[in-house]
Amino acid sequence: MTHIAAPETAELLDIARRIAREAGEQVIKSRVDAKISATKSSAVDIVTQNDLAAERHLRERIAQLRPDDGILGEEEDDVIGTSGVTWVLDPIDGTVNYLYGLPHYGVSVAAVAGTPTPALWKPIAGAVYDGSGVMWSAGAGMGATRDDAPLVRTVGPDLAGTLLATGFQYVPERRVRQGEIVTRMLAEVRDIRRMGAASIDLCLVAAGQLDAYYEHGLHAWDFAAGALIATEAGLRVSGIDGGPATERLLIVAAEDRWVALRDALVQAGADKTWDS
Ligand code: IPD
Ligand code: CA
Ligand code: CA
Repeated sequence: MTHIAAPETAELLDIARRIAREAGEQVIKSRVDAKISATKSSAVDIVTQNDLAAERHLRERIAQLRPDDGILGEEEDDVIGTSGVTWVLDPIDGTVNYLYGLPHYGVSVAAVAGTPTPALWKPIAGAVYDGSGVMWSAGAGMGATRDDAPLVRTVGPDLAGTLLATGFQYVPERRVRQGEIVTRMLAEVRDIRRMGAASIDLCLVAAGQLDAYYEHGLHAWDFAAGALIATEAGLRVSGIDGGPATERLLIVAAEDRWVALRDALVQAGADKTWDS
């Protein structure tokens, strides 16, 4: 495992915030011109020219500032680095909201150390610049902030009082299975929200504007930054087995509420969703 010293954490956090803001300002400014330029896993999984431009900007800046680092970004090929640090980029998380002019979207930038896969990496820094111009960020061991205000979230309501967020994949068969789980969870919690940008859902749990969140089938870039922000706020972010969150399933809740939420999700069938 690559060892990252504290000064490097601060440097990576500073870069994450700078480039997320630059790309975010560009994305907000160009929103009126957003048009679908391609579809991906299904007809509703879209990419706009602005997603591509934002990722290009992020990659150019990383190449200038940290030329030895790797890059794992949604819209272009992986870059293998030599420094042990990899940047994990979602140029627009919440592209459908973006296209429709809903402000729940953001640019998500994270720096991780070690093998660049969620089960193995060590998150170092993360920044999410959202469509309302809010900067959410965290550095490992440095805490989390919303703009410059610290985020601290160590307690949450019981399951029946929980405002629970989730999201859905773009492939219809998977959505149907996700819908079955959500139907069962509806009876257990205060209510459900599907806001449309995983990175920001995680930040909102860190801010106490949602109580908890889970989602199956995320990509690493959807949650790399947001999961660090939630963790640094004091929340527990884990997979169904209590180990690291992965693309298979991520569950976030206050530390003392996490097990009850996980158990309810298991009852609802969440442990079986991607088995076949
Ligand atoms: C999507 C959003 C959405 C989540 C999907 C993601 P995209 O990312 O985060 O909330 O439910 O699983 O793919 O496609 O807007 O970058
Ligand atoms: Ca995304
Ligand atoms: Ca995206």
